[in-house]
Amino acid sequence: MYAAFCSIGAYVPEKILTNSDLETMVDTSDEWIYKRTGIKERHIAADNETTSDMGVNACRIAIERAGLSHNDIDMIICATISPDYFCMPSTAAIIADKLGLQKVTAFDISAACTGFVYALSIAKAFIESGMKKNILIVGAEKLSAITDYTDRGTCILFGDGAGAAIISATDNKEHAIIDIHTGSDGSYADLLMSPNGGSGSIHDTLEHTACFMQMKGNETFKVAVRTLTNDVVSILADNSIEASTVKHFVPHQANYRIIKAVGDALNLDEAQVVLTVEKYGNTSGASIPMAINDIYESRRLQQGDLMLLDAFGGGLTWGSALVPFAGKGK
Ligand code: ACO
Repeated sequence: MYAAFCSIGAYVPEKILTNSDLETMVDTSDEWIYKRTGIKERHIAADNETTSDMGVNACRIAIERAGLSHNDIDMIICATISPDYFCMPSTAAIIADKLGLQKVTAFDISAACTGFVYALSIAKAFIESGMKKNILIVGAEKLSAITDYTDRGTCILFGDGAGAAIISATDNKEHAIIDIHTGSDGSYADLLMSPNGGSGSIHDTLEHTACFMQMKGNETFKVAVRTLTNDVVSILADNSIEASTVKHFVPHQANYRIIKAVGDALNLDEAQVVLTVEKYGNTSGASIPMAINDIYESRRLQQGDLMLLDAFGGGLTWGSALVPFAGKGK
């Protein structure tokens, strides 16, 4: 039995936070943000809108596009660093309940921006082992809830949103997910972290429990370019696939300059590189499925198209995947 990537769906909240809006909040400028990151705007969830609410909206679309009913789903994995609740219940369990599914296996994974690729690798293993048939993987983030809007080094980067995909069992080898690489190096943990609120919290008073993200941006940038490039070079080589045969390179949307550097290292054409960072910013675990949804919506994604996913995030974690799209194009 093989695992196939059968459908995609995404959701973005209505409210838009532009670079000009940020100019009124911190000492920054539209020019600085766009030049350093490629970001123009990002979407921000409503106060009463949770990560699971956004995830459910993306899931409903992915289920419908796969031609399945809710009851066909036998597992939900949610990749998020901004769950509805930090300890329990899992956001995946809440999403399952909101979809009317009370008996499915449901759990969250924590791998920051690499979360969707990690979730994909878990789904692939469950399906290939024969344990599950239709798995919903969701990347959903309300990063605005864990962003410090007084810190200009991070608040200009992040946005909210969700993306979901259905991974199903198939006996058609042409539809099979080819390979997935995942890795981590915790010795770089301090580059990107939410230091408060856990058992490793550096503060011992309740006033300091806000889980705001902190980042050493410049150091992270350099490690990101190196790690992302090495990762895609190695997955292509391991599978004897030329970069030129990749139809869509779908990198984690953190920074245009990082994406450009990796694309150039692989000699990719602009048309191969999927870019959404300008309009969504960095949506961590949601960024890759939101980007895949973007090419689906714009009718650029067709059945059989080879996608190369590539992600990098807090942990540090990284992951890449060679994935033919098994669903039908729009
Ligand atoms: N507006 C204006 N100036 C700023 C801003 C801002 N928003 N932020 C920082 N600056 C200033 C700094 O203070 C510094 O000033 P100084 O030279 O007087 O000290 C100067 O700009 C340069 O700062 P750098 O941090 O060196 O800027 P850099 O070019 O590295 O860009 C950025 C910063 C955009 C954050 C970049 O480093 C980056 O994108 N890093 C990687 C982010 C990433 O990929 N994260 C991983 C995934 S996220 C996740 O896992 C959740």
